[in-house]
Amino acid sequence: VSQIEPTNGAVQSLSAQAAISREVTILFGSQTGNSQRLAKELSGQLDKQGVQVTLASMSDFKPNNLKKLQHLLILVSTHGEGDPPDNALPFYEFLHSKRAPRLEELRYSVLSLGDSSYEFFCKTGIDFDLRLEELGATRLSPRVDCDVDYDDSAALWFESVKGALSVNSAAPSSSSGETNLSVPVQSAYSRTNPFQAELLENLNLNGRGSQRETRHLEISLEGSNLQYEPGDCLGIYPENHPDLVNQLIATMGWTPEEPIPVNKNGDLLPLREALLRHFEITVLTKPLLEQAAKLSSSAKLRELVEPEREQELRAYLKERDLLDLVQDFSPWEATAAQFVSILRKMPARLYSIASSSKVNPDEVHVTIRTVRYEAHGRDRYGVCSVYSSERVKPGDSLRVYIHDNPNFKLPANPETPIIMIGPGTGVAPFRAFLQDREESGATGKTWLFYGDQHFLTDFLYQIEWQKWLNDGVLTRMDVAFSRDTDKKVYVQHRMLEKSRELFQWLQDGASVYVCGDEKHMAHDVHAVLGTILEREGGMTSEQAAAYLAEMQQQRRYQRDVY
Ligand code: 2AM
Repeated sequence: VSQIEPTNGAVQSLSAQAAISREVTILFGSQTGNSQRLAKELSGQLDKQGVQVTLASMSDFKPNNLKKLQHLLILVSTHGEGDPPDNALPFYEFLHSKRAPRLEELRYSVLSLGDSSYEFFCKTGIDFDLRLEELGATRLSPRVDCDVDYDDSAALWFESVKGALSVNSAAPSSSSGETNLSVPVQSAYSRTNPFQAELLENLNLNGRGSQRETRHLEISLEGSNLQYEPGDCLGIYPENHPDLVNQLIATMGWTPEEPIPVNKNGDLLPLREALLRHFEITVLTKPLLEQAAKLSSSAKLRELVEPEREQELRAYLKERDLLDLVQDFSPWEATAAQFVSILRKMPARLYSIASSSKVNPDEVHVTIRTVRYEAHGRDRYGVCSVYSSERVKPGDSLRVYIHDNPNFKLPANPETPIIMIGPGTGVAPFRAFLQDREESGATGKTWLFYGDQHFLTDFLYQIEWQKWLNDGVLTRMDVAFSRDTDKKVYVQHRMLEKSRELFQWLQDGASVYVCGDEKHMAHDVHAVLGTILEREGGMTSEQAAAYLAEMQQQRRYQRDVY
């Protein structure tokens, strides 16, 4: 091995600087696991280059240690109306409080994940980035904000961070080809390379006369090597509704067979097929309208994207799709290829898995509520739910992958009691939990809170819960059918009615799981958990909040909400 001797002081001080750069802390704040996965990947890459990496969830990081850090890399996602993920909240609050220390010695960079169809796109990452600057820290490399399709932007951020840390940014060598029997076989299929899976079963779980349609899909994973655990999600790549695609093509006067580039490599597909499978046409975002304004000669559209008209623009985006856009702002000056190049890639939809692989080897089940509504004088369809309800039949195939969710996992100890709160399709992962607990013979007590509109038509998987209650796999079940009585009853009302027992379960170390609607249900359930702690535990509201935060930190309170 030939060594290059440092020839002068400049080179020496440069290598000394590189040596200092070799301690890095990576913190992630992750709800569904994307930031966590990216953080792990970056950690692995830096580790291979000899960097001393500390990788942690924000909820496990002691803020007192902040002042000791030299290099901090933050990967964090944003949810709902600009909210931090559950496991980022305490650190986020600390950093934005008066207790946050000055951080002049710190060099940092932020990768923020988000969805540009939301108004507060990447807000949590932006907040961290600006706050650290305010506290005196210096940016190692600029923040990168990623949209739903985050791979390319995240890779760019990895490279710029590694460059700034003077770490060799060449891709680390992979150790493929070796077989290690203790490591589970990795599937070749992933989000970027989905598996063509056969649909085995497609049932409507709602009874006749229901306002709802909820599909139970059973999908074969045979031959894929895909593995999952209870709490994980299935990603499904849907196809757009053919009627919408046809109308779009007709309105624009395009040729359905015209070859169109569908990715960076310039791979070509006929326009109609590209619009069916590869691009998002049902959601309008602000960046899309800004791009579109350059392709239209409509003065109206150019005015709408002016900064001072933000609120009007937000109102326009709501419940409109690409067909509205092209109809409302003609004439268009763009070719089909130019137009398609400004669209977002079709994102996969994630569904909480409703089965245990212990009970259904080579199969995965999901529970999908069909979304249909009317807006702006036209029928609108949820892309993936209507695709899976109307257009895939047993024997057809659909593109899927497993999204592992590290933040929604059964307790490691099979004796730990669990409380599950899952109205509507939120009940899906609890079917997986109970299948798993039954199969493994877990002895911990289980309690399910479930609700939907009507007992007679909307009691999803009713027979299965009944059987588990009889067998003792399910210890207790409380249901809230919201539209069978004059006054609405929701799961949180049932929780409050049982507050004494529920508090006792918490005292006994029960873990709490909440799945389903984020904006209303999960928010209200959280508030009721606080009320129960105050009422039964004699806590102040601050103590109750701290108790719940502590439960979250210990992973005894986990949420899969959307
Ligand atoms: P609703 O449709 O009658 O309002 C599953 O969707 C169930 O959750 C339905 O029974 C629905 O009731 C109910 N639901 C609606 N808002 C809720 C909230 N804020 N908290 C709990 N459940 C809610």
